[in-house]
Formats: sequence, C-alpha cells, structure tokens
Amino acid sequence: MDNIFEKIRKTGIVPVVVIEDAAAAAALSDALCEGGLPAAEVTFRTAAAAEAISIMKQRHPGMLIGAGTVLNGVQADRAVQAGAEFIVSPGINPGTVRHCQQIGITVIPGTQTPSDMELAVEMGLDTVKFFPAELSGGLAMIKACAEPFTGLSFMPSGGINASNAGDYLAYGRIIAVGGSWMVKKELISAGDFDTIRDLASEAAQLVRKIRG
Ligand code: 3PG
Repeated sequence: MDNIFEKIRKTGIVPVVVIEDAAAAAALSDALCEGGLPAAEVTFRTAAAAEAISIMKQRHPGMLIGAGTVLNGVQADRAVQAGAEFIVSPGINPGTVRHCQQIGITVIPGTQTPSDMELAVEMGLDTVKFFPAELSGGLAMIKACAEPFTGLSFMPSGGINASNAGDYLAYGRIIAVGGSWMVKKELISAGDFDTIRDLASEAAQLVRKIRG
C-alpha cells in the first residue's frame, strides 16, 4: 500500500478523468504517457469507467491508475477487478472505507472538514482527499487542518488547474493534486489527444519545477 502513496507523490498531479466512451481510453492513456504524466483517476461517474481502466492498464502496465467517485463497495470491487490500484471517493463513507480495507486496496476518501479528517484518522487512514479544494478554503484550509492532524497527508482536487497547482504542490503535506484541466471531457470527446498530451506535458514540467 505504501508503494502506491509513493507512486502518487512521485506523479504529483493526478489527471481526473470522466470518460463517456471506453473506445477513447487507449488514445487517452497514450497521450498521458507521451506527455510524461502516466497516471489517471478514472471516475465512476460514467458507465465506461471500469472498461476504460482495464484498457489503460493493459496497454500501459506501468501507468498509475486509480478509480474516482467510488460511492460504495460494489463499485470498489468493479474498479479493483478492472485493475485500479487505489480508490478515491468524494466524501468519507465508512462503509466504502471499511470494504476497501477488507479487500486490501488503498482508499483515499474525500474530506472537507476537521470532522471528516478525524473520522479518517479513526479509521486508520493517513492520506485523505480534500474536496472541493478551492471552494472549501483551498491551501489555507489544508494548512490550518494539517496543524492538528499531524499525521495526515492531503490530495486536494476541485478547482485546481495549471495556474494554482504549483502553490499546492509546494506544500510538503500534499502528496499530489488531482485535476481535470488536462483531460477535459470536451477534449476527450473531440478526440483532441494532441492537446491532452501537451497539457499533460506542461503539468509534468510543473511538478518537476516545484519538486525538483
Ligand atoms: C474530482 O473529483 O477530483 C474533481 O471533479 C476534479 O475537479 P476539477 O474538475 O475541478 O479539476
């Protein structure tokens, strides 16, 4: 499990993918890998999510692939069967967290308040998503919460983009940021994988610039 957190920290930016048609998964994963950002959190907001994960994982076995917007244990099972290496949820649902712990898959539940974070700590977690980051107080809120929760690390997403990601990445208690800016739904449906590759490349460069 620790290894997954190391991989997430290493990538620094996790593209949050909403994919309507699994047929686009191969080209999407190629574009992210060519851009030097071989990672994706494929959200279960669409029916194509599990198939897309499976296609990406087979095509790029070294790519870091997680499942996002996982709302229950059944979706977590489907994600793991497809090849997801970690599970992300928008909020903290103890049932989903416990299920993931039982089946031995890394889970990063969403938190927005100190109460959510306290629950995560009580459930034995040391890394949480912070969502929706910009609307919930952004980096200042994360820093304020990091004070009492000395053992927690954060993966913020929601409103993070190329212009503010660097500020988040510079803070050591943030293992990575999530964001859809380089994999916008419109780019995927238009088949504009060149732009996705270029935006992924810029994102990867930003991680290198901030973290070395
Ligand atoms: C998420 O689930 O993490 C968000 O939908 C990503 O937020 P963004 O689309 O504002 O980047």
